[in-house]
Amino acid sequence: MGLQPLTPRIATIAYSGNAETKGDSMIKKIAVLLVITIIAAAIPVMAAEDGAALYKAKCAACHGPDGKKMAKVDLGGATVQAKSDADLVTFVSTNPKHNFKSKGLTEEQIKAIVSHVRSLKK
Ligand code: HEC
Repeated sequence: MGLQPLTPRIATIAYSGNAETKGDSMIKKIAVLLVITIIAAAIPVMAAEDGAALYKAKCAACHGPDGKKMAKVDLGGATVQAKSDADLVTFVSTNPKHNFKSKGLTEEQIKAIVSHVRSLKK
């Protein structure tokens, strides 16, 4: 009988403790959601390879900024432009003088470079 009035107090203490935990995990959930949102927003930017910048870094030394540095191979010329995207990707990836796949470029980066090479067309 003497214990009876204590029961609601214990219940209140237990509940308020629980409420604190809930508030805490809510903040964590919001933080996690924020991080996910930021990462999700950044992924398309990272995925869109910059073909022009890659070309400048990897190809321009030999081919020139406009692809015309070597008279023998004008990247904007008809011979190169007549090739399919797939052929150009294969050439840049595996040709012994190029072999950019083994030099660490990804397929996506090589595709981006090839679309930049398309923009060199006269
Ligand atoms: C070290 C110099 C060098 C670099 C760097 C270089 N190339 Fe070349 N590239 C050549 C030479 C030399 C040729 C002439 C073909 C041959 O001798 O194999 C050539 C030819 C080509 C051709 C013509 C293929 C054909 O069938 O006519 C393409 C397309 C090409 N390069 C694209 C690129 C791209 C794209 C890059 C950058 C990712 C690049 N090259 C980087 C030297 C280079």
